[in-house]
Amino acid sequence: MRFDIVTLFPAIFDGYLTQSLLEKAIQKQIVQIHRHDLRDWAADTPHRKVDDRPFGGGPGMLLQVDVTVPCVEDVQRMADKPARKILLTPQGKRFDQRMAEDFATDERLMLLCGRYEGFDQRVIDILEPEEVSIGDFVLNGGEVAAMTIIDGVVRLLPGVLGDENSNIDDSFSRGNRLLEFPQYTRPRDYRGHHVPEVLLSGNHEAIAKWRSEQSQIRTQQRRSDLLSD
Ligand code: ADE
Repeated sequence: MRFDIVTLFPAIFDGYLTQSLLEKAIQKQIVQIHRHDLRDWAADTPHRKVDDRPFGGGPGMLLQVDVTVPCVEDVQRMADKPARKILLTPQGKRFDQRMAEDFATDERLMLLCGRYEGFDQRVIDILEPEEVSIGDFVLNGGEVAAMTIIDGVVRLLPGVLGDENSNIDDSFSRGNRLLEFPQYTRPRDYRGHHVPEVLLSGNHEAIAKWRSEQSQIRTQQRRSDLLSD
């Protein structure tokens, strides 16, 4: 799967791309990540300007349509397969596990990261990207949101997680729309906190039943909204 990230701050992704799971997925050639600096499409002025003040007044700066649209069109042409375009914005549809599963079926995603007050509306009108938010809060830009999406999608790709780290039981994953049950490892007792007896019983049926009940209880207590969709 190929990701193209359009950003004013490509270096934000440096550490993330070279760590752990994602690095391995890149090495195994399951994932390719290409970063594109929006400033490379700026008019050739000394400041390589990409933003301007909003018409009608108001705070902040907007990313310009005449920089962003040519950038996205050029990036689109960098591979044969057209990319599904995703623009990160708090105004977008909320990202969730279903969306991650859907994105994981695509061969190519382009992630457009905003900064400042966002993009000129005509970027959206012309390019018609899907607008996606990672939650009801405002970040300083779309980069962290883009990393969140890549992280959530890449771990679903075949060959990325070993069996020992399977995602089947994950909260919200396919076939399990509940929160995950509590888990324990050694030691059995720590400061008077004991591992539940049933998990030490070797009775697989009883363990499965206990886990399912715990998932239900947790979901009811913490996220009852999940039980109604
Ligand atoms: N950019 C700023 N805030 C964001 C959010 N919550 N989700 C996606 N992109 C953003």
